[in-house]
Amino acid sequence: MHTATRNRAPRAHDAKARHDDTHLRSEAVPIELAINGAHHALRVEPWTSLLDLLREQLHLTGTKKGCDHGQCGACTVLVNGARINACLALAVSHDGAEITTIEGIAQDDVLHPVQQAFIDHDAFQCGYCTPGQICSAVGLLAEGHAHCRDDVREQMSGNLCRCGAYVNIANAVESVRRAQDLASSEQEGDAP
Ligand code: FES
Ligand code: FES
Repeated sequence: MHTATRNRAPRAHDAKARHDDTHLRSEAVPIELAINGAHHALRVEPWTSLLDLLREQLHLTGTKKGCDHGQCGACTVLVNGARINACLALAVSHDGAEITTIEGIAQDDVLHPVQQAFIDHDAFQCGYCTPGQICSAVGLLAEGHAHCRDDVREQMSGNLCRCGAYVNIANAVESVRRAQDLASSEQEGDAP
């Protein structure tokens, strides 16, 4: 009697799980993304965050989940060149976008200057926040609103580092910012 009861319960549970699974798949929405230069045609549930899509569906685990609430910056990626917290973004709302994650920052096996600067300035300890810090710094430098080290610190303030590597992180980003400044002023000097 007990055995029969035990056998019936899992079947009912399995049927419900199958129903739920079918229901979820029927709600999946087709989207297309260019991620690190590769085209992806995907189906995602409307409530899937960009972070979960990257990590769970595409296995791009370089982008980290820290708070999952938009408060730590560990999940920072670039969407059409602008930095965002992927944990706060719904994947479906970025249909057609170009996404760059930490896996796409280096080009042809050559480190991005920000990546090299993080190594040169010893700008990480455990490394958990580092992918988000680097993506944020790349976005910040493209924005062109940072004009000194204090600007860098202010504009990177959404990226927390629990190891407290802030001094070296700011040094690394500031070194690239200065190099960019120098290069553009030399270009202006060369202009006829
Ligand atoms: S995981 Fe996205 S901000 Fe913390
Ligand atoms: S290096 Fe450990 S959290 Fe930043």
